[in-house]
Amino acid sequence: MPTKRIAVLTSGGDCPGLNAVIRGVVCAADKLGWEVIGFIDGYEGMLAPVRTRVLDRASTDGIMALGGTILGTTNKGRFVAKIGHGNKAELDPAIVAEARATIESHGIEAVVCIGGDGSLSTAQQLCDHGIKAIGVPKTIDNDIEATAITFGFDSAVACVADGLDRLHTTAKSHKRVMVVEVMGRYAGWIALHGGMAGGADIILIPEIPFTYQNVFAAIRQREAQGHTTHMVVVAEGACATDGEIVTKETSRKGEALLGGIGDQVAKRISEATGKETRCMVLGHLQRGGAPTSLDRILGTRFGVHAVDLIRQGKFGHMVSYQNYLVSEVPIAEAVNQLKRVKPDNQILQACRELGISFGD
Ligand code: F6P
Repeated sequence: MPTKRIAVLTSGGDCPGLNAVIRGVVCAADKLGWEVIGFIDGYEGMLAPVRTRVLDRASTDGIMALGGTILGTTNKGRFVAKIGHGNKAELDPAIVAEARATIESHGIEAVVCIGGDGSLSTAQQLCDHGIKAIGVPKTIDNDIEATAITFGFDSAVACVADGLDRLHTTAKSHKRVMVVEVMGRYAGWIALHGGMAGGADIILIPEIPFTYQNVFAAIRQREAQGHTTHMVVVAEGACATDGEIVTKETSRKGEALLGGIGDQVAKRISEATGKETRCMVLGHLQRGGAPTSLDRILGTRFGVHAVDLIRQGKFGHMVSYQNYLVSEVPIAEAVNQLKRVKPDNQILQACRELGISFGD
């Protein structure tokens, strides 16, 4: 007979490395003689009709190399604890009561909630209502405070670098400007790291408002230096000083779906410089596919540590990664604000030393 039963769920947008965390939780719990069940489709699985599946070593064998999540997920369910860019929303008390009833009736001691900013806010609110929850930070955007990195980010950066490598050869053959729009919501981490790794010439990020004149000037200067090809990486949340963040639609209870700035930048560059310009939106390619080794290792370590936090009774905490060590912080510390690229960021400064323009 297992001595304890715990649950795990994945919430919000999927990202590479989720299955590594699930496997890490299952193996570490099994070692302690605990049973693990997974809620299907994130927090929604706790609500009627309750959907769970038993997770054991056999059923999680070989999942680490898979992208996505074997448990399913949702980013538009009934557990919304944040709206848009950091606005807190109170969970519906009836939803919390139903979740608690499910947890009690299934004999679940604690829940490992793997999610991003919004999903961790949900975990914290559940904790405030007496449900024992542990947070595991997940997002390709890398925008969660109190952890140096989230798993999924490295895989997304690898996708951007690979995309830029491929686009560079075709751009060079045609002497074109190539604009590559990447994800990241209101933070420029994917654009900054992916841009550096892929040899971008111009990187536009939400944290640094740009002017089109500066972008055109950077291209003209490069042309004067003999370059015929220019690689421009634009974060989906990047914004001109005289413009607004470009959105596709408003969905998920007021949460904006960002995207479209790449096309605008490409059009303006083409008009102003006369250079043939193409825009490529990498989109969900950045979230799909197998995780990198780094994300597999980070995800596994996060899963193992989450189980240890349950063993220690450290509920309301989130697994965190700082200075090569996995530890934990109160979830509240992580969800108060988004982690964004600061002006003194070393990678940002190194990019400037390389001559990469940020349009400012
Ligand atoms: O937060 C992860 C993320 O991929 C963002 O970078 C992007 O803006 C958003 O999710 C896309 O959401 P969806 O999967 O709903 O299109």
